Amino acid sequence: MRRAVILAAGKGTRMKSKTPKVLHKILGQSMVEHVIQTLNEAQIKTPIVVLGHEAELVREALSNQEITAVIQEEQLGTGHAVMQTEQIIGDLDGTTIVALGDTPLLRAETVDAFISFHEKEKAAITVLTTKLSDPTGYGRIIRDQAGHFSKIVEQKDGTPEELSVGEINSGLMCFNNRLLWESIHKLETNNAQKEYYLTDLIGILSQKGEKVKAFCINDSDEVFGVNDRKMLSYAERVMCARINENWMVEGVTFENENTARIGRNVQVSQDVIIGSGVEILGSSTIGADTYVGSNTYIFNAEVGMNTTILNSRITDTKIGNHAQIGPYAHLRQGNIIGDNTRIGNFVEFKGSTFNNDAKAAHLSYIGDSDIGENVNIGCGAITVNYDGFNKHRTIIQNNAFIGCNANLIAPVTIGEGAIIAAGSTITQNVEANDLAIARSKQENKKSYAERLRVHLKNK
Ligand code: UD1
Ligand code: MG
Repeated sequence: MRRAVILAAGKGTRMKSKTPKVLHKILGQSMVEHVIQTLNEAQIKTPIVVLGHEAELVREALSNQEITAVIQEEQLGTGHAVMQTEQIIGDLDGTTIVALGDTPLLRAETVDAFISFHEKEKAAITVLTTKLSDPTGYGRIIRDQAGHFSKIVEQKDGTPEELSVGEINSGLMCFNNRLLWESIHKLETNNAQKEYYLTDLIGILSQKGEKVKAFCINDSDEVFGVNDRKMLSYAERVMCARINENWMVEGVTFENENTARIGRNVQVSQDVIIGSGVEILGSSTIGADTYVGSNTYIFNAEVGMNTTILNSRITDTKIGNHAQIGPYAHLRQGNIIGDNTRIGNFVEFKGSTFNNDAKAAHLSYIGDSDIGENVNIGCGAITVNYDGFNKHRTIIQNNAFIGCNANLIAPVTIGEGAIIAAGSTITQNVEANDLAIARSKQENKKSYAERLRVHLKNK
């Protein structure tokens, strides 16, 4: 049985933020969500998250995650943080992995290899370590003369000789759960920070003759702990590069790999081309051969194959195949856009369906509408869905033609094949194949332009 504890109670003073450190985001997901996802990918479900500073804010931010939250009222150190989970895991067998909420670059394969090593070795504790050219700030891995890992010494407590060691504690540790709880109450606070250091368990257990192991990894970025905004930016760059490189291997072209931000839960198919400054976040998928042009923002959207999107903003929307979107389209809040559709510049869609072959090429607002196949929405035509109190739906059936600058005042239904004359304000339903004209009749006054000019000049 494997379970995890994520320490996330600290304030993160160096972030200089009202937001708790672990809620700062990388590629649209908070750092602690990244850690939770990595553990999930390594088949460790429902981690226990230790909350403290702004606990309610963090709990709320994690409300859609499968976790067990516990509160550490006072932050008395990493050992004290783990003590708060005793009620939940204090009398269980198996392996407990302790992770930190501020190490978002950890990979699932590493977590998996690390735990497997720990279990195979039947160790009491295994620490994930790495070697750094500048180990300042981290706990150092100290070995005895025989080369056995004997203790961890924190930066603030080390002798110059101990601090010269380059191998550091990443913060990720595996415990034999029984031995963890047998020894954790032996921790004391006689150190520079007057804290209960979880890392002191290495010394305690190795002195008892228990097996203590270090699992050293080469890619030190994986255990990079974020403490300030520069480090946050570095972590974002590393994760971005990792994801973009992965998609390039899978057959995706990046016009500028350094400016595209693709989230961790995005799927991109082969021969997609991604322009510069594109962001695709949330859980989104992009179908094969689609072109996502520069500066497009996509969040929680499903885009089909062979579609072209230029410079647009698309959230919570599904788009079919061979669609042409943008430039400057804004599709939000639950649209379903069919195949071979066209949505052009300065068109906004909200909560609407737009069936195959329909077109709205310029300057429209389509809200709360169901639009049939092969409908043409003329330039400037809009649905008037809001009366100041309630939203109403507009239904436009197949093959209808909506002239330019028409206002369709909802609730209203335009029947199949109907034509709405340009400039009409439609307040009543229009039946199939009818022509609706709702505008004042034109009157031409002979030579009045000239008379008007004379009149105005002499005024
Ligand atoms: C810790 C380790 C150090 C390691 C480093 C890796 C200890 C004593 N030291 O040091 O060996 O090299 O991480 O980054 O464990 N936290 C709580 N409650 C507390 C204190 C901390 O939940 O009372 C959480 C923090 O929110 C943070 C994590 O534990 O996510 C680590 O705490 P931090 O104060 O950053 O420890 P470091 O000094 O970095
Ligand atoms: Mg730290």
